[in-house]
Amino acid sequence: AKKLKIAIDGPASAGKSTVAKLVAHKLKYIYCDTGAMYRAVTWLAIQQNVALNDDLALAEMLKTIEIKFVPSKNGQLVFVNGNDVTKEIRMPDITNNVSTVAAQVSVRTKLTQQQQEIAVNGGIVMDGRDIGTTVLPDAEIKIFLVASVKERALRRFKENQIKKIATPLRELEREIEERDRKDSTRVVSPLVQAEDATKVDTTSLNIEEVVSKIMEIVENKL
Ligand code: C5P
Repeated sequence: AKKLKIAIDGPASAGKSTVAKLVAHKLKYIYCDTGAMYRAVTWLAIQQNVALNDDLALAEMLKTIEIKFVPSKNGQLVFVNGNDVTKEIRMPDITNNVSTVAAQVSVRTKLTQQQQEIAVNGGIVMDGRDIGTTVLPDAEIKIFLVASVKERALRRFKENQIKKIATPLRELEREIEERDRKDSTRVVSPLVQAEDATKVDTTSLNIEEVVSKIMEIVENKL
């Protein structure tokens, strides 16, 4: 069978990573969470007291960064320069600052290059904001996942309950809208649907329904 490149993009909390992981598992493909890479850079910048909008300082920091995905029985672990940051990069402090870091040219250039290297042999499901438009414009499958802000905030609220993060629902709605706004209006590779992407609205779909929709599209290309 062909080893496809599958790009899954969309706004915050639309269910990209959940669905991308399941699709990758079904196809025995690699799964690459590019959001985790932007979060890892944000973590390191905060750790090293680098101003999050200082493109030059971030460029310097990125010279020695090593981001690794390590498989484990509970899913992929994320390491930055040898530190396991898997849990920390999901905390509100990172979530609410990552869009600032992700808007810097040095950061996007570096991570885009690394993502292209990871995907070079195909057989990959990559999720993010600019995969179909910038990272893998040649991907055979491009999905743009959307859902209403209310629904996305509710999903995040439920996830947070498990992680014992107590942000109120209204606050989550506001944070999600703010992150979408920043991601969609930045100059370099903004969040936008690729012309050749298929839009899937997940507002009233469950995870299995979204996965089977995507698998149908994939099977037509295999
Ligand atoms: O997908 P996730 O919510 O973990 O992504 C975190 C942030 O990383 C996004 O809000 C966005 O600012 C940035 N990002 C990006 N390009 C990608 C993936 C994520 O700019 N391909």
